[in-house]
Amino acid sequence: MKKKLIIIGIESTCDDTAVSIINNREVLSNVIIRQKIHKKYGGVVPELASRFHDKNLYLAVNKAIYLSRIDKYEIDAVSFSLGPGLIGSLLVGASFAKSFSIGLKIPLLTVNHVQAHILVHFIQNANINNSFPKFPFLCLMISGGHTQIIKVNDFFKMEIIGSTLDDSVGDAFDKIARMLGIYYPGGPLLDRFSKSGYSKKFNFSKPNVNELDFSFSGFKSHIFQFIKKKLKKDSFFIKNNLADLCASVQRTISEILLEKIHKATIKTGIFRIVLAGGVSANNEIRRNFILFAKKNKKWEIFIPKKKYSIDNGAMIAITGLFKYKKNFFDSINVIPYTKFQKF
Ligand code: KG4
Ligand code: ZN
Repeated sequence: MKKKLIIIGIESTCDDTAVSIINNREVLSNVIIRQKIHKKYGGVVPELASRFHDKNLYLAVNKAIYLSRIDKYEIDAVSFSLGPGLIGSLLVGASFAKSFSIGLKIPLLTVNHVQAHILVHFIQNANINNSFPKFPFLCLMISGGHTQIIKVNDFFKMEIIGSTLDDSVGDAFDKIARMLGIYYPGGPLLDRFSKSGYSKKFNFSKPNVNELDFSFSGFKSHIFQFIKKKLKKDSFFIKNNLADLCASVQRTISEILLEKIHKATIKTGIFRIVLAGGVSANNEIRRNFILFAKKNKKWEIFIPKKKYSIDNGAMIAITGLFKYKKNFFDSINVIPYTKFQKF
């Protein structure tokens, strides 16, 4: 039988406190404590986020250990997100993980949050095909902080071949939702409102960006100007068209992403596509990519199950596991970082 290798993963980059325990590639527990407090403010308030991580992290860790049916002394290593993210939130996770590592005399593993979103596909049954993608593949990394096309050659050999020049696609979802009067969490709510909408009702122009890069700042302004103009003529315009507006925005964003990744497949000759990050939970994006893959037999597509699209502890644990196997251990002196660093 395969030797047990038990890793605990701690995720605290933004607003959700997530902890997971895995044994090799099998998830034993996956706990998320959401921070509802931000709803009141219409977006994440960093100071509140760190205070709530501080309050919730030990609860999440205890619950994860309890649900795993293991003893904490069986844990072989602790991994945690070192960045990118909100500094206060990261510091809470880092301090906890370091203390845990010292207390239990187990190794410390630091994880790049973006890389972890990709490597979550190597957890057993993490994606809708229930299979691991073979290398090399193209990852469309779509989250609240990042929009990138990444050529993944191996677990820790990743190369960014396209990136947003300004805002992320998650930010576009959240800000457009806000324009429509839908507040935190904007992306998931916009997705929900779209369900009863007609996605071809409104046509929005798509950004014209070179090569494999993206831009969403002009797109956001375009929607803003469109809504402003319509509201001048009819103050109930949003109210009367909310579902159609949401569905049309969502369709356009999904087409922008699909067109870019299509271009990337032609350019690289790689037709194995992996979606990652919170925005990959979007129903229209999932539907559109699956449909395209059905029509294009060369395409092989991997989409995370929704609980592994959004931030989760299992992605931190699995990345830690691969680092453990390569002896990539970290010292207690590591310092969290807020901005994306090289892989
Ligand atoms: O990966 P993630 O959980 O956190 C970051 O690493 O940023 O991604 C969060 C982003 C937010 O912008 C959120 O609105 C978006 O993912 N998101 C969605 C959906 N679920 C989460 N956007 C559109 N549709 C969804 N269903
Ligand atoms: Zn994330």
